[in-house]
Amino acid sequence: MFLTRDEESILNGERGSGPQRAMELLVALGTIYDADRLVSITSAHLSGVSYKTIGKGGLSFLNDLASDARVQVKTTLNPAGMDLERWKDMGIQEEFADRQLEIIDCYDRLGVETTCTCTPYLAGNLPRVGESIAWAESSALSYVNSIVGARTNREGGPGALAASIVGKTPAYGLHLDSNRKATVVIEADMDSGILNYSLLGHVVGKKVANAIPYFKGIRPSQDEIKTLAAAMAASGAVAMFHIENMTPEAYGMDTAGLETIDIGSRDIATARDSLSSGSDPDLIALGCPHLSEVEIRELAAVLKGKKKKGDTEVWFCTSRAVMRRCAKEVAELEHFGKVLCDTCMIVSPIEENHLCTGTNSAKACTYLPTLCSQKVVCSSTVELMGMIT
Ligand code: F3S
Repeated sequence: MFLTRDEESILNGERGSGPQRAMELLVALGTIYDADRLVSITSAHLSGVSYKTIGKGGLSFLNDLASDARVQVKTTLNPAGMDLERWKDMGIQEEFADRQLEIIDCYDRLGVETTCTCTPYLAGNLPRVGESIAWAESSALSYVNSIVGARTNREGGPGALAASIVGKTPAYGLHLDSNRKATVVIEADMDSGILNYSLLGHVVGKKVANAIPYFKGIRPSQDEIKTLAAAMAASGAVAMFHIENMTPEAYGMDTAGLETIDIGSRDIATARDSLSSGSDPDLIALGCPHLSEVEIRELAAVLKGKKKKGDTEVWFCTSRAVMRRCAKEVAELEHFGKVLCDTCMIVSPIEENHLCTGTNSAKACTYLPTLCSQKVVCSSTVELMGMIT
């Protein structure tokens, strides 16, 4: 891979050991994927934030790196293992909280914005069409590749962190025009709604793995796209998709000759059954990916005038930026549960306090049994809210 004189100097350690290690990783990635050069990025988004997922090893790595490295571009963070302000309300142990706050401090010293959300594009990190970026949250990167037209590969946490420190990433994969075209057509015929789009994503991800689907027959809202992207990236490894007459790079795309897969209501119902393993949730968690302003307003409207019944705990997970934009509705939701920021039902240690979780997200349903030892109730928002009112 060609390196400029400036890039060579980083590789030789002239800017310190942190940038040198970051450049070594980028060169290794570029060599593996046959990139011919590095490309400048305008932003990064990092995973590897929760103490539950990175543990002591991750914390000590970050501490080391923060001693002499700084990010060169706007860089935001994925959810942490707890609400950074309300962790006691979540039943988080003091030791876990201390370690989690240390991790956040490391990122802060690196110059990262400690936003802690998987929807950074709703919280101030919104790239522009055609920009190269290095993002690590699978749902968010698929969203910005597809809907915004920005360009990122499906980065792992270390790759995105290295790119943020150097301000560049190897030019391969989805950074190149030739790799952004559809490779399979999906003809979908189903009802709309967050749960249905989430289940559609689950079915498609399983069928196409890391292909680039081109959807026909659907007209999803922004929030339906958000959950579709998340589910496809969880059951498969879809990092980009197109929607006919909707997404920026779908216009004029030639899909002739591509394999077509038909998906209908029966496939959606089967997926819902396959993801459900419980019936009586002790936690209902919405906001995977993090709730948007529109979703919070819709939830408040659904719950208005109702009373909470039973003792099922309810979490509404969102970003702090979104929460601040709809204070009145957040106050309404607080009568029914906790509006939590910075975290989610997967990366927080819910297994310490809960056995069965109800959610409307196929991505959450995929990870709850394996990462959180949960039984799962896969239901629509209205059905879940009906269980507590
Ligand atoms: Fe976000 Fe957590 Fe779901 S990071 S996409 S809410 S698993």
